[in-house]
Amino acid sequence: MSDKKASLSIDGKTLDLKVHSGTIGPDVIEVSALTGNGYFTYDPGFVSTAACESKITYIDGDKGVLLHGGYPIEQLAEHSDYLETCYLLLYGALPNASQKEAFVNKVRMHTMVNDQMSTFFKGFRRDAHPMAIMCGVVGALSAFYHDSLDITDEKHREISAIRLIAKMPTLAAMTYKYTIGQPFMYPQNHLSYSENFLHMMFGNPCEQDKVNPVLAKAMDKIFLLHADHEQNASTSTVRLAGSTGANPFACISAGIAALWGPSHGGANEAVLEMLNEIGDASRIDEFVAKAKDKDDPFRLMGFGHRVYKNFDPRAKVMKLAADEVLAELGLENDPLLVIAKRLEQIALEDEYFVERKLYPNVDFYSGIILKAIGIPTSMFTVIFALGRTPGWIAHWNEMISGSYRIGRPRQLYTGPAQRDFVPLDKR
Ligand code: SDX
Repeated sequence: MSDKKASLSIDGKTLDLKVHSGTIGPDVIEVSALTGNGYFTYDPGFVSTAACESKITYIDGDKGVLLHGGYPIEQLAEHSDYLETCYLLLYGALPNASQKEAFVNKVRMHTMVNDQMSTFFKGFRRDAHPMAIMCGVVGALSAFYHDSLDITDEKHREISAIRLIAKMPTLAAMTYKYTIGQPFMYPQNHLSYSENFLHMMFGNPCEQDKVNPVLAKAMDKIFLLHADHEQNASTSTVRLAGSTGANPFACISAGIAALWGPSHGGANEAVLEMLNEIGDASRIDEFVAKAKDKDDPFRLMGFGHRVYKNFDPRAKVMKLAADEVLAELGLENDPLLVIAKRLEQIALEDEYFVERKLYPNVDFYSGIILKAIGIPTSMFTVIFALGRTPGWIAHWNEMISGSYRIGRPRQLYTGPAQRDFVPLDKR
């Protein structure tokens, strides 16, 4: 705690409030004393609320800084890989060579799912949205792992984290295969994490597939860039669900549901739909005007962020990866990329966006890479959920392994004051 004090004068009273300082970032004012004095704080959307203490990730929205365990995302994207970043998020330090090898092997040995899981898929329509299927099958993991659901047991929490990180690619690929009527592909232990995912997505039992290493590297980078983002809506959902003592698989399923919204993880799918709707660079001005029109609900998907009031550092890395992948595939002049780059240029110059500090976010370029890799738009948010799993489970574990209380926000009530029941014949 810092030695700073905050005081609040109200109704002739002065309340002294504790102030806490973190390693970096704004100090926080502890307001729990307000309830005893008859007040709640009011902060719809939690714009100014720190809901917890955490050591995992730090974001400076004004500077466009994102740190995992203190390491800048740009350096992790350049020098690390997804599973190493998973380790960093879970254990708070980069692994040495033997720790990394052991972790990668542990994940590798848990990539298969119980074969009975495949029957769950048959209950869904083939045209079900992949996120609907993922909400169901990830939650259903709770039904299979009774031996690792004592959340007070550190070992149980660790095996649940490993199982979730290991099985998300398998379940995601099964979801995709189910929607296109192709047989599920089993994970292959000789492949890397991202090669395995692409094998399970695009391989088939009739031929030996060879995963393009450039695409596998791009996939790994996309997973890494989505790995964690402090207390975003879906991570806060996981924490709130976890605060009730719910099992980790149910909590991650809740996070998947929250991520699905187009204002959050669903934005990558919405960006591609928007670029397709624009269709041609000549129509960009029409859509920018719609985005600026107060009476038009249309927003420029992939732009703006609750925290970043500068470029999302992940968007910068994603943009470079998009150029690499499209060059590798000879798609440099992909019409959607041309529209995206023109849109970005306009948004960075237009007063409306500049004034509101609406920059491209992580979702703006990711969809272009995913489309180039051959992943259908409806699977984009599933990819985001896959990438974000280590972040979700690291925050869940940080909370459960520390001291926590059930999350229970209060409200400003503006409904009717107490009144007596009116019998039907008197209404
Ligand atoms: C993610 O929290 C995280 O960390 C999320 C995430 C993660 O990794 O977990 O980073 C992932 O969710 C990224 C965001 C993806 N969403 C989108 O790209 C959807 C489009 N963006 C917007 O819906 C919006 O920018 C939000 C939801 C991202 C942020 O909304 P806020 O912080 O509540 O901002 P706001 O709605 O109050 O907007 C402020 C102003 C408003 O105009 P005014 O009322 O001041 O005149 O900016 C305008 C908004 O109308 N605005 C936009 C806009 N985003 C905000 N106008 C046009 N297009 C947009 N995209």
